[in-house]
Amino acid sequence: MQSSTFLRAAILLIFLVVSGPGPSNVRAQQSVPSGISLLTTLRVRDSAGWWPTKSIDTKDQFVGTAACVRCHAAKAASFDRAAMAHAAARSDDSELARRHDALELQVGPYHYQLASVDGKGTLKVSDSKASVSVQLAWAFGVGRMGQTYIYVQNGSYYEGHVSFYASPQALDITPGQTRAIPTSLEQAAGRRMSPDEAQYCFGCHTTGSMIKGQFDPSAASLGVTCEQCHGPGASHVAAENAGTAQPGESSIFNPARLDHVESVDFCGACHRTWEDVLTLNADAGIFNVRFAPYRLENSKCWKKSGQRLTCTMCHDPHQPLTRDDSSYDPVCLQCHSSTASQTAPTSPATTKERKVRRPAICRVATKNCVSCHMPKVEPLGLHSSFTDHWIRIAREHEPYPE
Ligand code: HEC
Ligand code: HEC
Ligand code: HEC
Ligand code: HEC
Ligand code: HEC
Ligand code: HEC
Ligand code: HEC
Repeated sequence: MQSSTFLRAAILLIFLVVSGPGPSNVRAQQSVPSGISLLTTLRVRDSAGWWPTKSIDTKDQFVGTAACVRCHAAKAASFDRAAMAHAAARSDDSELARRHDALELQVGPYHYQLASVDGKGTLKVSDSKASVSVQLAWAFGVGRMGQTYIYVQNGSYYEGHVSFYASPQALDITPGQTRAIPTSLEQAAGRRMSPDEAQYCFGCHTTGSMIKGQFDPSAASLGVTCEQCHGPGASHVAAENAGTAQPGESSIFNPARLDHVESVDFCGACHRTWEDVLTLNADAGIFNVRFAPYRLENSKCWKKSGQRLTCTMCHDPHQPLTRDDSSYDPVCLQCHSSTASQTAPTSPATTKERKVRRPAICRVATKNCVSCHMPKVEPLGLHSSFTDHWIRIAREHEPYPE
């Protein structure tokens, strides 16, 4: 573990020196190292093709999901039921803000009220002397765990100090914000975000908020759309409509062609790559359970299988999350069964993979594998549990492995 971390750091360092700082150039595009997790900023900067959250040149390169429906109707219909498609909403048309009209919370001297006023989501904060009301512009999160509100004041973006949590159906302090009592009404309402941070949020929860490197969330499509993962679709749609698409020549990005490490980093563009977590969230502690790529890549199933257990083996990104434990069994059994071949899933076999021995078989149970080996974890204050993607023999009373 220690030495491989060192090796990776060394490779990354060499890569950074070779590719140099500044805008991407042809040489840098060709020298994205393979086989190691990278920082998303490097993937975005140096990938020759598309990478989620990349800035585009003109708004009309994006044609919108409606344009894909005609030819990819089944994928479009199932994706519309997936959480990712609804990762952000205008707060005045957000279901949650509407359904839970008049939520209240008391924090020290401050009284919070989240209500719909004339159809607009509004956060009102009062103390014994005065009150402020802010009109909420965006609601982030479809509400599996909860929903956080963003508003704009004097050109700056603010994250509401309180969020809605689904499980208690109540307001509480927004994840990541301090629980100390605010010192003014303005501070009690929300936290000003730096421009970089606001861009980062919209990059993951919306599509097309960056055009030519300029941040403009009003132009963005809400939620993760087809083109956030597949890149601008205008030329693909034009080619397919005109019947000029060349067989074997791709007019749109298909992540199926990524290798395994790239594939996990691809989802990690928003779910955070292993390297993102080590570099940016090293002190997250138990909160790193939210970063599935980091947890997964710590598993023996990843490290000792020649890095073959990717997100898409268990999750079809075009489908809603499957909640039935037994539906994941076939994936586990691809490797952990007496009939599994030594290099079960299809992939270009590397020397590393050929050396992999057949994984062990469970002596305890034959089904619902994830119920024991991918335990649910509930970090304090999030009022919701997350699935630990660090697949392992999880023994009761053992501390959470960070
Ligand atoms: C006019 C019909 C049409 C429309 C509209 C269309 N596609 Fe396609 N798409 C196709 C066909 C046909 C293929 C399979 C043949 C091919 O690969 O060119 C395809 C293939 C793809 C692939 C796989 C490409 C590859 O190289 O493996 C992706 C990804 C894709 N489409 C995404 C989209 C997205 C996203 C949209 C909306 C922005 C969209 N398509 C709109 C017809 C269409
Ligand atoms: C552009 C950013 C982005 C990318 C790329 C991305 N995701 Fe997500 N994903 C999100 C966001 C944001 C959410 C939270 C949506 C919500 O609950 O509001 C999410 C949620 C999910 C969920 C939970 C769904 C649920 O019902 O709770 C799964 C599973 C998931 N993503 C899988 C993937 C996989 C697999 C990939 C790679 C193929 C991927 N994601 C790539 C942004 C992204
Ligand atoms: C690097 C990408 C990224 C950034 C930046 C980001 N998010 Fe997310 N967000 C995600 C992903 C992926 C998920 C789903 C997994 C999880 O819940 O951690 C998510 C989940 C959420 C959820 C829970 C959704 C639900 O359905 O319960 C909320 C609320 C949320 N984000 C709000 C925000 C806000 C507000 C910001 C900015 C201050 C932000 N996020 C910044 C990627 C991101
Ligand atoms: C969160 C990222 C994500 C989103 C959003 C997304 N896709 Fe995909 N898509 C993928 C990945 C990953 C693959 C490759 C799947 C694999 O490896 O089997 C893929 C593959 C495809 C393919 C090729 C199918 C094949 O069998 O090779 C098509 C077509 C496609 N997507 C269309 C769409 C359309 C249309 C939408 C919007 C309704 C969409 N995708 C939204 C990640 C995404
Ligand atoms: C071996 C199977 C497996 C793999 C591989 C896998 N997941 Fe999951 N994932 C699950 C299971 C099981 C759940 C919980 C489903 C439920 O709620 O019942 C889950 C839940 C999630 C959720 C919802 C939030 C949570 O923590 O419960 C997100 C987001 C997610 N996965 C993202 C990812 C991403 C990103 C990857 C790739 C790094 C990935 N998953 C790889 C099995 C897998
Ligand atoms: C791509 C192949 C592959 C897949 C798929 C896979 N594993 Fe593994 N897993 C391995 C390998 C290789 C090892 C390490 C060698 C061994 O255990 O013999 C391992 C180890 C384990 C261990 C022992 C971990 C430890 O810390 O000792 C458990 C438990 C486990 N896997 C459970 C699962 C479960 C549950 C699933 C499905 C959710 C799964 N695996 C999916 C390849 C895989
Ligand atoms: C009821 C909980 C439970 C379920 C369900 C379960 N396991 Fe296990 N598994 C365990 C425990 C406990 C151990 C450790 C046993 C021991 O130390 O002898 C274990 C051990 C393992 C090991 C390591 C074996 C070794 O000899 O190193 C693997 C691999 C594994 N399980 C995979 C799976 C797979 C795949 C499934 C689904 C087909 C599964 N488990 C279902 C509880 C469970």
